[in-house]
Amino acid sequence: MSYVIRKMTLDDFDQVVAIDQISFSLPWPARSFRFELTDNPASRCWVVELDGRVVAMLVGWFIVDELHIATIATHPEFRGQGIGRDLLSHALRSAREEGAVKSFLEVRESNEVAQKMYRSFGFVEDGRRSEYYKDNAEDAILMSLDHLDV
Ligand SMILES: CC(C)(COP(=O)(O)OP(=O)(O)OC[C@H]1O[C@@H](n2cnc3c(N)ncnc32)[C@H](O)[C@@H]1OP(=O)(O)O)[C@@H](O)C(=O)NCCC(=O)NCCS
Repeated sequence: MSYVIRKMTLDDFDQVVAIDQISFSLPWPARSFRFELTDNPASRCWVVELDGRVVAMLVGWFIVDELHIATIATHPEFRGQGIGRDLLSHALRSAREEGAVKSFLEVRESNEVAQKMYRSFGFVEDGRRSEYYKDNAEDAILMSLDHLDV
């Protein structure tokens, strides 16, 4: 399987929104992706393209010396094939090249698949936000990574 990881553009908008909507019970408002692409200088937005199709996306926020992983998802048809790992790795390495030294994120307590991926990168749990997710009052686990040599 041969895919490329590249910066997200406005041309990817519809496919990125579709991946977001199929992947999360609380998807972002579609306009948020437009904002990230056009109006947020802190945004670092990536996609994975396979045979002309966007199959995964990641939005990060570069804040001072940290990359906050705001969202990451692989289209369900393409999960479990190493794409999410490659995408996260790419975003972390790119942020390191820009001067980031740490990364952090929030993840649902029940999202064991994502947590397993993050732990395999070295992310550790270092806090929790109680009833953070509005659809089911689920807690968010806060995870951080204090080195970006991934
Ligand atoms: C989390 C997500 C992005 C992973 O994407 P992916 O392309 O399937 O990931 P990969 O195939 O690269 O797998 C990466 C790691 O995730 C974990 N993983 C993936 N599929 C898994 C499964 N079915 N069961 C348990 N762990 C799994 C493993 O740790 C895996 O690493 P390994 O293959 O070396 O064991 C994807 O499952 C997804 O889009 N989920 C819905 C959206 C989401 O929850 N995003 C995270 C929000 S915090």
